Amino acid sequence: MPVPASARRRADWLRAELTRHDYRYYVLDDPEVPDAAYDRLLVELRELEARHSQLITPDSPTQRVGGAPVASFAAVRHHLPMLSLDNAFTREDVEAFDRRIRERLETEHEVEYACEPKLDGVAIGVTWKDGVLEQAATRGDGTTGEDVTHNVRTIRSVPLRLSGRGWPALLEARGEVFLPLAGFAALNQRAAAQGEKTFVNPRNAAAGSLRQLDPRLAASRPLAVFFYGIGRVEGGEVAGRHSAILQQLRSWGLRTAPQARVVQGVRGLLGYYEDLGRRRARLPYQIDGVVYKVDALELQRRLGFVARAPRWAIAHKFPAEEELTTVRAIEWQVGRTGALTPVARLEPVFVGGATVSNATLHNIDELQRKDVRVGDTVILRRAGDVIPEVVRIIPERRPRGTRPVQLPPACPVCGSEVTKEEGAAVARCSGALICPAQRKESLRHFASRRALDIEGLGTKLIDQLVDGGLVRGPADLFTLSAADLAALERMGETSARNVVLALERSKATTLPRFLYALGIRDVGEATAAALAGHFGTLEALSAAAPEQILEVPYVGPVVAGHVHAFFAEPRNRAVIAELHRHGVHWPAMPRPDRQAATLAGQTFVLTGRLESLTRDEAGDRIRALGGRVAGGVSAKTDFVVAGADAGSKLDKATRLGVTILDEAGFLRLLQRG
Ligand code: IVH
Repeated sequence: MPVPASARRRADWLRAELTRHDYRYYVLDDPEVPDAAYDRLLVELRELEARHSQLITPDSPTQRVGGAPVASFAAVRHHLPMLSLDNAFTREDVEAFDRRIRERLETEHEVEYACEPKLDGVAIGVTWKDGVLEQAATRGDGTTGEDVTHNVRTIRSVPLRLSGRGWPALLEARGEVFLPLAGFAALNQRAAAQGEKTFVNPRNAAAGSLRQLDPRLAASRPLAVFFYGIGRVEGGEVAGRHSAILQQLRSWGLRTAPQARVVQGVRGLLGYYEDLGRRRARLPYQIDGVVYKVDALELQRRLGFVARAPRWAIAHKFPAEEELTTVRAIEWQVGRTGALTPVARLEPVFVGGATVSNATLHNIDELQRKDVRVGDTVILRRAGDVIPEVVRIIPERRPRGTRPVQLPPACPVCGSEVTKEEGAAVARCSGALICPAQRKESLRHFASRRALDIEGLGTKLIDQLVDGGLVRGPADLFTLSAADLAALERMGETSARNVVLALERSKATTLPRFLYALGIRDVGEATAAALAGHFGTLEALSAAAPEQILEVPYVGPVVAGHVHAFFAEPRNRAVIAELHRHGVHWPAMPRPDRQAATLAGQTFVLTGRLESLTRDEAGDRIRALGGRVAGGVSAKTDFVVAGADAGSKLDKATRLGVTILDEAGFLRLLQRG
């Protein structure tokens, strides 16, 4: 069937439009239309092509996943070898790199360098002939790689047709294919849910995805690419500077790293390294360092190559975030509430910029899931300021005769029975009142900065006090004299006096701090503040029934149960009375009122300008009475408070039939109690 001219024109237009939207979305990160609008165009093009198969072109956006599985990977010989980079690890290495370059170029001047992130993925070379994607190959051994065109076509940030103007008739761009962290997490979640093997890191996942014979698999993984240079170029010119080439690539629709910069001299290099190092943990993909390249191509040519790496470029690596180490022991730590936490004692290893010798294994379930045993070799990860984590063990390196770790039947510190509720992850020591570990942790918490803030009463001193039998509970702290303290090992008279002074000072506290300091299970700072605000006094709180505690905003039945049980226990009441007797006190709460929760469970939306109070003040008042303030109006909104010049939120409230309060009505509601 001949194709009507109008259909051909429409197909051309749809293709151009879809290509342009791909570019905005995947390369510029700046989509122009919502996804649904894009999908409509794609559906229309698919239908047109289905009706007239002659309209299908290889660069059509419908053809990304069109290819059939390949039987094997064809070898591709690179016209220009794909090189690797030398590594720099220290500042001195970078200084030496810069010095070598200036010596070879015989210049005293600062060199201009192009800097960019070093992505942790798979190197590829992608070729466009007459602007149409023709081939994509992996680096392989640098001379010969594998043809992965069918998979690279599925990567949405790789254009099937170049855009813009002035591209050479044959262009090979080189870059790194990688899997952004979110895609990696989703992929592993899916694999785990289906009982399949998970990938160790995004790099392996990207490599594994490119090495799939069936392009549908690669298409289902959100691979991305950054181009960082060119290979073969024929029938056209490219710019004379690396930084300008990156701009050209971008103008032809290829995605380049947005962090690329040009800097001057070695100071510029080190500044760039530090800057990106700080941002590293927040990037949505993994980078393992930065790459410095002499910017001027003419200078690059003069500098040339040694073996397989250019003299004009170097990779400055960040400290590795993952290292191998071995597990020397697995110990159980007992927390304030008796929770038993397994901790791996490791062969010290330098990772993520620090030496690490311990890593938490969280709880027995996590430990058994990872099956970490004493003697195992493990991958340890420390990224940014995140606490070090055992990623997994290396089964191949497990020594013979290891045994799985079991939950100890008795607390390693006090010998009390260890209990674990069905379905709960955490096991606990049941010796709450006799366990020295729990006692020490409770005291540490009691003295901590956000609780009673007793300066100088640190971990070591608490250990000494508990082990020496001087202190059992928090009230005992206030019986200590400077002489008692000075008699302890490594304690001078001045420090002893300072601790006594700090203890004295800590007696003047606040009700929220005091409640937090008590260490009631699941009562953090926010809950302590909410309880204090709601009940106003400790007496009111300790006399409250669970149902009354439940009225406190955001307190659920579990926490209410913990709070009630705490105050029902006579021994806890005795400790509180004793603390009082020693002079621990706090001012009355600003609004100790029984009407506190009159707005509990009610959601408010504020709109427009109020006369007698600001929006923030209005919000505080609502929250103080247990209400919630939301940003937008929905069917779940209870009240909309409309001040002067209220706009669309008021309209929506009217439409949904939500109760509308003017300022006077709102103030009356606040005063009612
Ligand atoms: S330039 C001659 N730039 O690192 C220059 N490489 O160890 C060769 N890589 O195989 C590469 N990000 O896979 C360059 N911005 C970047 C890079 C980068 C990652 C990888 C690439 C290469 C390896 C070199």
